[in-house]
Amino acid sequence: MTTSHETLQGNTATPALIDMRDVIKVYSTAAGDFTALKGINVDIRAGEFLGVIGKSGAGKSTFLNMITGVDDITTGRVIIRANGADVHVHDLNEDALALWRGKTLGVVFQSFQLLPMLTLIENITLPMDLCGLYRPRRSRQRALELLEMVELEEHANKLPAFISGGQQQRVAIARALANDPPILVADEPTGSLDSVTSDHIFELFERLVQEQGKTIVMVTHDKSIAPRFSRTLRIVDGELADPIEEDETASEPEANKSPKKKRKWLW
Ligand SMILES: Nc1ncnc2c1ncn2[C@@H]1O[C@H](COP(=O)(O)OP(=O)(O)OP(=O)(O)O)[C@@H](O)[C@H]1O
Ligand SMILES: [Mg+2]
Repeated sequence: MTTSHETLQGNTATPALIDMRDVIKVYSTAAGDFTALKGINVDIRAGEFLGVIGKSGAGKSTFLNMITGVDDITTGRVIIRANGADVHVHDLNEDALALWRGKTLGVVFQSFQLLPMLTLIENITLPMDLCGLYRPRRSRQRALELLEMVELEEHANKLPAFISGGQQQRVAIARALANDPPILVADEPTGSLDSVTSDHIFELFERLVQEQGKTIVMVTHDKSIAPRFSRTLRIVDGELADPIEEDETASEPEANKSPKKKRKWLW
């Protein structure tokens, strides 16, 4: 692994899994055009745990949206080389994009976004049923295995409202892994959690990188965890900047500061 704050291109010994070239994103608003990303060039390698840091409004979520293709690109390209195919994300039509995304990318949000009327196990089988990679019996079995991995199998038939925020986020991570995607994208996944719970979630991500070879791109406000990523990108006003400067993050919320204790799977 590379150490944090190295080059914007990462370790060049392995091929880029995610290749972003001259990515520009302009939002058109009533007040006029606003350029949220101003020409981003970055290679993300397989097996990286990439932290994306920057102030509110810097363009972090927009950066992730360019990778997942949930929002249109203005100019430039994003190529993802996964599952044996080189895909130009923004060239796919809507149906092809949805299917490709389901198999390639798991997405985790700050607000968990579990479906409230579905049980935990149903929340995890849903993406499998939508993608059709697993037969229904196998998808249920796999969902249980994923719940076991996040140590929530006993709660499989509960509704999300009956478990804690940290537990809901673990279910959301299990759901993101449903179709065994090589890439996880997380937008402030610990932003709504207390520091101890945040640390548990972060350790879960670390284990997914180390033990399952996942590639993770994670946005965070928490500068204290920057050294724990294999690499960190800083976005300032829609552009990449490096390295992290103290004054840039000095005013960021401290809410997520977490102790760096080594834990096993204790929740
Ligand atoms: N749909 C949109 N229409 C217009 N402007 C937008 C839209 N989405 C984002 N922006 C603007 O683009 C800029 C980047 O937004 P983005 O959501 O990527 O920031 P962020 O770094 O994720 O911020 P935060 O930390 O608050 O989540 C901001 O100035 C924002 O106001
Ligand atoms: Mg954001």
